[in-house]
Amino acid sequence: MDETNPLRSGRRLSRSPEPSALIIFGGSGDLTRRKLIPALYRLSQQRFLPAGFTVVALSRSPMSNEQYRAMLRTWVDKTAEDSPFDLATWESFAQGIFYIPADYRDPSSYQKLVNFMSEIEPARRTGGNRLFYLATAPSDYAAIIRNLGSANLNVENGSGWVQIIIEKPFGQDLKSARELNKEVSSVFREQQVYRIDHYLGKETVQNILVFRFANEIFEPIWNRNFIDNIQITAAENLGIGSRAAYYDDSGALRDMVQSHILQLLALVTMEPPPNFSAEAVRSEKAKILNSIRPFSPEGVRRFSVRGQYNRGFIGGKEALGYLEEPGVAPGSRTETYAAIRFLIDNWRWADVPVYIRTGKNMPKRETEIAITFQRTPHFLFRQASAEQVESNVLVFRIQPDEGITLKFIAKLPGQSMEMQPVNMDFRYGSTFGLHLAEAYERLLLDCMLGDPTLFDRIDSVEASWELMEPILRAWNADQSSPIPQYASGSWGPREADELLARENRSWRSL
Ligand code: BG6
Repeated sequence: MDETNPLRSGRRLSRSPEPSALIIFGGSGDLTRRKLIPALYRLSQQRFLPAGFTVVALSRSPMSNEQYRAMLRTWVDKTAEDSPFDLATWESFAQGIFYIPADYRDPSSYQKLVNFMSEIEPARRTGGNRLFYLATAPSDYAAIIRNLGSANLNVENGSGWVQIIIEKPFGQDLKSARELNKEVSSVFREQQVYRIDHYLGKETVQNILVFRFANEIFEPIWNRNFIDNIQITAAENLGIGSRAAYYDDSGALRDMVQSHILQLLALVTMEPPPNFSAEAVRSEKAKILNSIRPFSPEGVRRFSVRGQYNRGFIGGKEALGYLEEPGVAPGSRTETYAAIRFLIDNWRWADVPVYIRTGKNMPKRETEIAITFQRTPHFLFRQASAEQVESNVLVFRIQPDEGITLKFIAKLPGQSMEMQPVNMDFRYGSTFGLHLAEAYERLLLDCMLGDPTLFDRIDSVEASWELMEPILRAWNADQSSPIPQYASGSWGPREADELLARENRSWRSL
């Protein structure tokens, strides 16, 4: 398979992209405000952006360039966590930001964009390199793609390349993902398409591959002969905020499991790729997703649990129940929590359960992957109690407090043979002393460099929707049994504990 865009070959290792223009649809939306512009600002602060780098933002509201830039400035100011706002960087970055009020469904908006690009590109010397970003509501994606095609904005003229980043969710289910892909591929070649899942841009997530495949000691035990089970937790201590319009139609399964969690699962369980090329890595990911056992209706009933938060307290503050959140439909059955047991049907993982859970309004924000090893085959120290001889656990702490911990058993100092679990700990913060880049910084830069390794290929997107399909169908068909409830600030519904208890296991306490 052709690896990258032919206009981009040979640029993967250099981290200095060619001049280009980033055209954002959804210029005043939540993603642009909270993630994209702050990430670009930080890239410019670290001098990763090429000279002449240009942002052209489109959205519905009428605004001048100056008004738009002033609005962005307050967003950047708000999100600059540990570094003070740097006025000089901001001013030089902001000079290259332009705003066009647009109606995404009206072809004349695209004509306006064509005319604007023909003026701005020579002036800013971006060489006709264009990167489109779909950061709108997903319901606008198809119209934007079609209109880009009709206005010939998809065409790579001469030396300039054209690429498009499509924000998740890519579809609402298998059928709509396929339909969307049909639209995309009628206008763009696959090498031009970058389907983003921002979890792949997190340092700790990329480190899973380095940990597994740049070290000799772990891979030989990374299989059913040594591992008892894997648990993936993505807990958030916030509710849905102002996102009811999106979330109430989506739910935890679509919002977190189909994308972020299955990506984490794929990275910890995939086979080593033959090399680190984009296609080799992405092929292994697709292969493992295709090896996960599909659910029968009975399987959905036994091995999946959904839940919805009701009132409670998080960190001492009272939190609303999901049904009380502004914009949520009365009596909504949307899940804000999901727990699932997966099995992978291949030689490496046969019979090793992979338990995943994710939820909003939980006690903490914590994402981790825990690999629990089997117990020792023959235990010498009979005087130790069961708690003292817990299994070894290796934990990838994805966020916050990024790091890796290995739990093992040690002898308590003293005259008797008492034991206790202890931790060997690696922390990014203290080891490297560096601020970890935000996922979007890495991914935007990769895309400018033409490196699709950390972006989703359509076969993986389809495989993950295919897996979700029976669960979505069964949950949707059941309109009468009550949705299991959990108090805000708790670790999810009782049913999720029972899911593991039936297999003599329990969720890790975090
Ligand atoms: C997004 C989901 O993709 O990921 C959100 O739509 C979720 O609902 C977010 O809160 C979590 O991302 P992060 O990087 O904060 O873990």
